[in-house]
Amino acid sequence: MSNPVYLALDLPQLDTARALAQKVKAHIGGVKLGLEFFCAHGHHGVHEITHLGLPVFLDLKLHDIPNTVAGAMQAIHVLEPAIVTVHASGGRAMMEDAKAAAANGTKVVAVTMLTSLDERDLERTGVSGNAHDQVMRLAELAELAGLDGIVCSGQEVGAVHKQWKDGFFVVPGLRPAGSATGDQKRVVTPRQARDDGASALVIGRPISRADNPVQAARDIEATL
Ligand code: C5P
Repeated sequence: MSNPVYLALDLPQLDTARALAQKVKAHIGGVKLGLEFFCAHGHHGVHEITHLGLPVFLDLKLHDIPNTVAGAMQAIHVLEPAIVTVHASGGRAMMEDAKAAAANGTKVVAVTMLTSLDERDLERTGVSGNAHDQVMRLAELAELAGLDGIVCSGQEVGAVHKQWKDGFFVVPGLRPAGSATGDQKRVVTPRQARDDGASALVIGRPISRADNPVQAARDIEATL
């Protein structure tokens, strides 16, 4: 089985991001480039990272009318991303058109509910009910729209996997066992997320901010 770890390159400098990916590339399965990276470095930046030979996950979280999102998907064909994100709350037609416009080898996955939002925030946007139900509802919509999967937390991936057997599930917010937690929050390890059905594991700071990123990536790889 290939390495499911996508290293989040949340670094402002292209050179620093590329150097980090180059250093750890033998111990990761791909890299995740976010909106910030894409806005700063554009296609050129993505090409520079792609040259390293790793699959690229473009975390653009697209959300607009179907025609515009489809146009954006077509505009990134040339980058051959392995994974691209859209917002499930953009609706079924938007997701269908995004998938139809994506390159054949690109998985389109939906962001359900941003982890920066809580139930009070949801309510203020007119959504009643709890966060879990909202995630499950949007996951179902993404499946109906023909997407490949969703982004969800390690806490949710087990439940979502039960509902959507062949979905592709991207899980961020992971902490390797033994890393400082600093509080009593339930920690999900990369291994736990994998066992619960995660297809891709997004890991940033536990590797990028480690004293020895290569060792950190190697240690995570060894647990999987
Ligand atoms: O925390 P870490 O540095 O590993 O985060 C890696 C990536 O996952 C970041 O790009 C961050 O935006 C994303 N993330 C997320 N949801 C979380 C935690 C992190 O989307 N709950």
